[in-house]
Amino acid sequence: MTTERAERDTVAFEIRDGVAWVKFNRPEKRNCMSPKLNRQMLRVIEDLEFRDDVGVLVLSGEGTAWSAGMDLKEYFRESEAQGLRGVRHSQREAYAWWERLRWYQKVTIAMVNGWCFGGGYGPLFACDLAFCSDDAQFGLSEINWGILPGGGATKVATELMPMRKAMYHALLGENLVGQDAAAAGLVNESVPADMLEARVHEVAQNLLKKNLRALKATKDAVRRVREMTYDNAEDYLIRGQEALNWHDGSEGRLEGMKQFLDEKTYKPGLGEYDKSKAAG
Ligand code: ACO
Repeated sequence: MTTERAERDTVAFEIRDGVAWVKFNRPEKRNCMSPKLNRQMLRVIEDLEFRDDVGVLVLSGEGTAWSAGMDLKEYFRESEAQGLRGVRHSQREAYAWWERLRWYQKVTIAMVNGWCFGGGYGPLFACDLAFCSDDAQFGLSEINWGILPGGGATKVATELMPMRKAMYHALLGENLVGQDAAAAGLVNESVPADMLEARVHEVAQNLLKKNLRALKATKDAVRRVREMTYDNAEDYLIRGQEALNWHDGSEGRLEGMKQFLDEKTYKPGLGEYDKSKAAG
């Protein structure tokens, strides 16, 4: 591609089977994140967030990369040329969509199909679940060009990995391939490249059978309680469940109890209740 990609074309998406398949779409630049891409990604995920035909969002990359991190030219060099105002502006655009994704209304899955570097750890962590192909490569390459892993990347490494592994990963700038990234905790699973989409589709379809309001309450709870004392977490979870009771117009928990205790049509230990029979 010789001409520069228009802002609206830096992100692609389609909706299939209740899933929004969103893609970083700068394959010619290995999907590195430019200010344009960051702005467009926020627009796209905002538009998708409350659609009734979207229950799960999957984030993947077009071509050989998931994302080669921040765009060294457009995000760093050109922003820095504009001084502090330019730098802060670009940072806010990037962090804005990662934050939106961390607290997204729907469950989010990173489908890491190739390179994932540096700033890519922001959206990687923002996604609730992550699956990669065995040939995907993950790296905190910041040290290789003379900076520290910023933009949350150091935090992501220490959140997902034990301290020694995170330290080695950050100091050496060596890449982890799929299976090693899964063993280190960066992703849930690594699968052969030709099975990646099918596996993610399967997980997404299993999620769609659940009560979507309960999924949102649960994903927020998992992220929130990690930073709380036991007593604070206990209290948060009581409030969270009581808020869910209020917001779940389908009265899912009552239906779930009815189908198990009265109708004996399913067992919660073995699968989910039939939500098509619930109220709203
Ligand atoms: N920033 C700017 N441009 C990039 C980036 C990036 N992060 N990654 C790739 N590109 C550009 C290349 O400059 C090249 O542009 P050109 O065609 O105009 O010359 C194009 O994308 C293709 O890249 P190649 O290097 O030719 O692709 P290849 O498949 O051989 O290598 C790889 C892929 C390993 C991902 C390599 O591009 C690379 O090392 N990229 C940088 C990765 C990185 O360290 N990212 C920054 C992390 S730190 C942070 O995000 C804060």
